[in-house]
Amino acid sequence: MNDFCNKYPSDNMLLYNADQYCRKIASINYGKNAKYFIETLGCQMNEADSEQLAGMLTDMGYSQAEDISSADIIVINTCCVRENAEFKLYGHLGELKILKQRNKELLIVLCGCMMQQSHVVDKIKNSYKYVDILFGTHNRQEFPELLFDSISEKKKIYEIWEESRGIAENVPVKRSSTITAYVPVTHGCNNFCSYCIVPYVRGREHSRHPEMIKKEIIQLASEGIKEITLLGQNVNSYYCGMDFPGLLHYISDIEGIERIRFLSCHPKDLSDDLIKAMVEIPKMCSHIHLPLQSGSNKVLQQMNRKYTKEQYLMLIDKIRASIKDIAISTDIIVGFPGETEEDFNETLEVYEKAGFDFAFTFIYSKRTGTAAAKRPDQIPEDIKDTRFARLVALVNDMTLASNIRDENKVLQVLTGGKSRTDRSVMTGRTSSNKIVNFKCDNDFTGHLVDVKIKKGHTWYLEGEKV
Ligand code: SAH
Ligand code: SF4
Ligand code: F3S
Repeated sequence: MNDFCNKYPSDNMLLYNADQYCRKIASINYGKNAKYFIETLGCQMNEADSEQLAGMLTDMGYSQAEDISSADIIVINTCCVRENAEFKLYGHLGELKILKQRNKELLIVLCGCMMQQSHVVDKIKNSYKYVDILFGTHNRQEFPELLFDSISEKKKIYEIWEESRGIAENVPVKRSSTITAYVPVTHGCNNFCSYCIVPYVRGREHSRHPEMIKKEIIQLASEGIKEITLLGQNVNSYYCGMDFPGLLHYISDIEGIERIRFLSCHPKDLSDDLIKAMVEIPKMCSHIHLPLQSGSNKVLQQMNRKYTKEQYLMLIDKIRASIKDIAISTDIIVGFPGETEEDFNETLEVYEKAGFDFAFTFIYSKRTGTAAAKRPDQIPEDIKDTRFARLVALVNDMTLASNIRDENKVLQVLTGGKSRTDRSVMTGRTSSNKIVNFKCDNDFTGHLVDVKIKKGHTWYLEGEKV
């Protein structure tokens, strides 16, 4: 359990104090129409961090650029959960070099999870000298100060904290949506799943104070936000004077917030109290994301997941028995070191038995520094690819079946706006987190509307407003 928050409440909070640097940079930027561009390469937590970076940039007098080439400052918020996420950064760096050659005044900033790895920092310092500022996940609230130092002293700044010194509160945030919002409740992870880099780059798990969380949600509600998603790498291990179900009750009565979601749950920490809270609180969405990772007990143990396939399936039964019409999604990794054909077949079998509505599927990616990366029995790429294709085929079939089961139901949809491809179509999400497109002449953006589902497709539901 995370008792850090409880024992040392004052150490757990870092109050944002970069206002003076924001003002100084804003005065430098005054009248210049300075623009920022942020590229976010990672997960929802990374997106939430980027919204803070956007908030700080706004306070520093920048406005959002339409495209990367018109920006005065470019921030790449990186991810290293899989190798292809890292490739994305190196892809961008080529483009950034050209932009920097064209505009010597352009500022290039790299931050996020990749920067917490010393070999990456060394590589950037040595081979990508046109990068101006580099910081990590733990010190992003220092951004205005680092930027001010870089501008005023005309020097490169590389500043990484190896560990978290607490959660930064009161950081300005510029949200990317006016309807839904992410609210981080825990930072970091203590689980050390043997394949995963996240605990190394995000540090130990810390929980935010419930009052800070509530204050943020009240603010969001006053700005018109209808749906919040509570975020954490292992959100259900939240603990700060109250546990996660307690937190859900604590924030459940905020007027204006119509829907509450959360991401991601670890099966080992999913308590009966959480299931009960989901039943008792009407605002809770009927969706749970519960990463399975593998259906083989041998692989699960080697992944350090701390549950068996039998325990996982029992948990699914319990959830479905308690929460009517709940949609359950998952994450699956194929090609973990030592995974045999039988292990993989068990994953397919458990996937079918669990009756998942949706899944994110990943090919195992070796991450330097993790326990699994040291194993000699890595799976050849061609075998991983073949297994991945078989898994994706099953996932798609079952997603379609789940969507077909929704046909003729009337579901409540929170509309995000008009479809980009067809302006007579509105798009939104059900409580079960499925995308719904429906024809509509009026603009219901930001409203909860009842939609009768006419057809279930693999990637979305098609409906009609009732
Ligand atoms: N903390 C969350 C999310 C972690 S990252 C959770 O535990 O659910 C999201 C997903 O990426 C993980 O669930 C896992 O399926 C996948 N993942 C993590 N490390 C990986 C790796 N080295 N290779 C492939 N997939 C990985
Ligand atoms: Fe990674 Fe496991 Fe932590 Fe999720 S729970 S972030 S997969 S170590
Ligand atoms: Fe990537 Fe960091 Fe999220 S590694 S998945 S951005 S926590």
